[in-house]
Amino acid sequence: MILLPTVENLSLAADVLRGGGVIAIPTETVYGLAARITDRVALETIFRIKGRPSDNPLIVHVSSIEQARGLVSALAHDSLERVAGLFWPGPLTLVFPAADTVSTIITAGLSTVAVRMPQHPIARSIIDECGSPLAAPSANKSGRPSPTTAQHVEADLGPEVRIIDGGPCRVGLESTVVRVMSDKLIVLRPGIITMQELRDRTGLPVDHAGTAEDLNGSPGTRYRHYAPNAHVVLTYSISEAFNFLAGGDARAMLLARPELHAEFQGQIVGSLTEHDLYAELRRADDLHVERIVVLCDGTVQCHEALMNRLRKASQDGNEQDSGT
Ligand code: TXA
Ligand code: MG
Repeated sequence: MILLPTVENLSLAADVLRGGGVIAIPTETVYGLAARITDRVALETIFRIKGRPSDNPLIVHVSSIEQARGLVSALAHDSLERVAGLFWPGPLTLVFPAADTVSTIITAGLSTVAVRMPQHPIARSIIDECGSPLAAPSANKSGRPSPTTAQHVEADLGPEVRIIDGGPCRVGLESTVVRVMSDKLIVLRPGIITMQELRDRTGLPVDHAGTAEDLNGSPGTRYRHYAPNAHVVLTYSISEAFNFLAGGDARAMLLARPELHAEFQGQIVGSLTEHDLYAELRRADDLHVERIVVLCDGTVQCHEALMNRLRKASQDGNEQDSGT
């Protein structure tokens, strides 16, 4: 059920959370399915509603650095203050050694916890009003693109889940996830806060999650994500894109930057931007498109987060079993 963000509905959301329920909330990145971090049953409900594997940990959302300190091992408080102070509130999730009190349902048994302070005023006011940090994965069914509108959430999770409607998400891609070490940062999931920005603002070296050890520390990266029903093909030039659009009988959609749409008159076209990607993948399903031809021109190829999601959307479903 989609609810307007009135004062009454925000209080209702906080009441539902305090009573051990779950609520879908808008954030600036994508919508999240939230529960209080201390409610075991509500946390289990999140995994059940999403069909999420239990070995994939949840991000905890806070409305103050003070709240984050309560979740993070005291040994990492200095790093937390330093990095969070530069980027929060915003689309950056920080992974630290967890305090002993954090539920193993949230950490999925890892020794670390992922924490983020969202910028969205509705998310922050719900956290404040219910008086607890909220664990919240993206509010999609596992394996579906993350939801960037309340309607996407309802399409995936059904009418029983209460959804606070904050309109379309400003960013449209999930947060950058970064493991914070004492002497460096490791990017576990790229997002609109780039490696360069992390380097420039923290002065720390920033690495990709290259090793198996790093990736095992971020189980979400093992699963297939972001996938529509249609087969996604990545192409790297206009002529290659035309070949795939013309080849075979499949009903096809072209995804390209809006500036290039004029080249493809007469085709079904979608906007390839970080803001629109997930909505367009869902529109392709609504239009029963069988093949999505993505034109990764030079500009798109330089966009690490967009390319990361496109590669995952185009992976063979056999490779990995489900998304988050
Ligand atoms: O923008 C976002 O991050 C959105 C909004 C709702 O905040 N949330 C989101 O959550 O995308 P989710 O659960 O769909 O993705 C969380 C990612 C997963 O890849 C998960 O494995 C990783 O964060 N993660 C969570 N806890 C972790 C931890 N302790 N160590 C490493 N990775 C972790
Ligand atoms: Mg997700």
